[in-house]
Amino acid sequence: MVSRILRFFAAILAFFIFSPSDAQIMPYEPLDKDDLQISFTVISDGHLESNNAERHNNYGEGFLDMARAEVPSRALAMVGDNTMNGQLFEQGMLYGLLRKYNTIENVLMAAGNHDICGSDYNMADYDRLKKRFIRYNNAFLDHQIDELYHYAVIDGYYFVVLGSDKDAGVEQYISPEQFSWLDGVLKEASASGKPVFLFNHWPLNDVFPEVWTEGHVGAQSDELKAALQKYGSRIFYFSGHLHMGVFEGDGGYKEEGLITYINVPSFGSENTNGDADAQETGLGLQVEVYENELVVRVRNFVQHEWTDYEYRFAL
Ligand SMILES: [Fe+2]
Repeated sequence: MVSRILRFFAAILAFFIFSPSDAQIMPYEPLDKDDLQISFTVISDGHLESNNAERHNNYGEGFLDMARAEVPSRALAMVGDNTMNGQLFEQGMLYGLLRKYNTIENVLMAAGNHDICGSDYNMADYDRLKKRFIRYNNAFLDHQIDELYHYAVIDGYYFVVLGSDKDAGVEQYISPEQFSWLDGVLKEASASGKPVFLFNHWPLNDVFPEVWTEGHVGAQSDELKAALQKYGSRIFYFSGHLHMGVFEGDGGYKEEGLITYINVPSFGSENTNGDADAQETGLGLQVEVYENELVVRVRNFVQHEWTDYEYRFAL
């Protein structure tokens, strides 16, 4: 019953906040359709805000764009700060747009500090915002969750989402329960022999250390890194939070042993932290996995065009 009310409320909001532009969206293809093993879409930091029409438009146009992929993404991961303040209205607007325009079957939601931290703008605290985040997720998505950390196995690939277990400001707090859950999931994933895709709003401390130093995992960074290295899996770790845009070359990723860390630009806010080559909004990642290679292609989902930025990693 509550879910039905939330869906009704969201549908009304979506109707009022966004109408598609007249621009025709051209269909687009992966680089090598015949050899593609799986593809998925990653965006972060959409910061949907009640009174900011540009942010509503970004999500609406973005979901419409994703729907034009000739080979549909098998997952859409949203890496946190999906809303600005975690307000009821903002969650309603986000899921209203998602329900109306998104066509990707598997949607995986990570929470960022803006979604779950109390402030004057949401008049709530962590517990209430966490419950709200989960309630909306479960009212709209097939992928049901009971914590902010969760995972899905899609076509044999493990998609692992981490969260923060308390309000830790702009950093992350990982509870013993989450660490023990992660250990179990990574152990299971290592048996798949496939690369693991990990989505965490916060980057490890030493990955992009020059950009917004406080805005990283924080005190538990080394412990998290050790957990990720334990089973020797090939891991691709996608993080947002930094709003640092996209770099030509290796400024936006770091490779360390079997782990590749990839920055996801902010989809909704200006990417003005750091000195990136592309700082506009609307940017996200289209990830294509082939037998021996993973390709990250940066697309402007709002402008409906590929950028010139692309990263390739050996598998
Ligand atoms: Fe953010």
